[in-house]
Amino acid sequence: MSIHIPATVGQIAPLILLPGDPLRAKAIAESLLEAPVLFNETRGMLGYTGMVDGQPVSVMGTGMGIPSISIYVTELIREFGVRTLVRVGTCGALQPEMHIGDLVLAMAASTDSRVNQRRFSGQDFAPVASFSLLSRAFATACEQGWPVQVGGGLTSDTFYATDPDWWKDWAEHGVLAAEMETSALYTLAARHGVRALSILTVSDHVITGEHSSPDERERGFLRMAKLALSLLDRAGQVH
Ligand code: HPA
Repeated sequence: MSIHIPATVGQIAPLILLPGDPLRAKAIAESLLEAPVLFNETRGMLGYTGMVDGQPVSVMGTGMGIPSISIYVTELIREFGVRTLVRVGTCGALQPEMHIGDLVLAMAASTDSRVNQRRFSGQDFAPVASFSLLSRAFATACEQGWPVQVGGGLTSDTFYATDPDWWKDWAEHGVLAAEMETSALYTLAARHGVRALSILTVSDHVITGEHSSPDERERGFLRMAKLALSLLDRAGQVH
């Protein structure tokens, strides 16, 4: 039992999928986990554990932004022994050749947040994905023929920016897409010696203003969740 997750130790699996939206967690649990059991509903942040090929897997919402995901990820790792955390979320594309529905595997996460500067006394930390999760997710996405890009992401503190050109410096440095959580996920995973990966789907294009339809979003989430579950090997381990 932790401050924000009143579950008991053992109720949450070593592998957890983390969508931002708790209702996505419910949808993933109901469509991809066998016999899902609700372990959290405090603040509406639904969390479930069920089985996949005989192995326990959990899925829980994180809310939006660095402060919210940081609280849940810290408690999941410290209090519940979670060892592999896979964010499944949406992002806004920053490169002209990218399309709505593309998968993005965030290899690293730049940020406009000051949270890590405080953590590192004004110095810059480079939050990176687990290479083993990243390389296997990339291989699986390619095998499935899913459009996938691997590169840097931007974790932003603002969804509605005041400067219309906010994205240009990042785009000119090759950053693929913006979202609001990955830098915290990767930093906390590094701090606690566990594995993390952000699997993202382009839901909007920052340059063209295009948006995905609700149907496209739904399909994107199922595909990301399947990709995350493919990280379990036949013995139910994640390496
Ligand atoms: N910015 C930040 N977060 C996002 C975006 C975006 O454009 N799209 C989806 N999540």
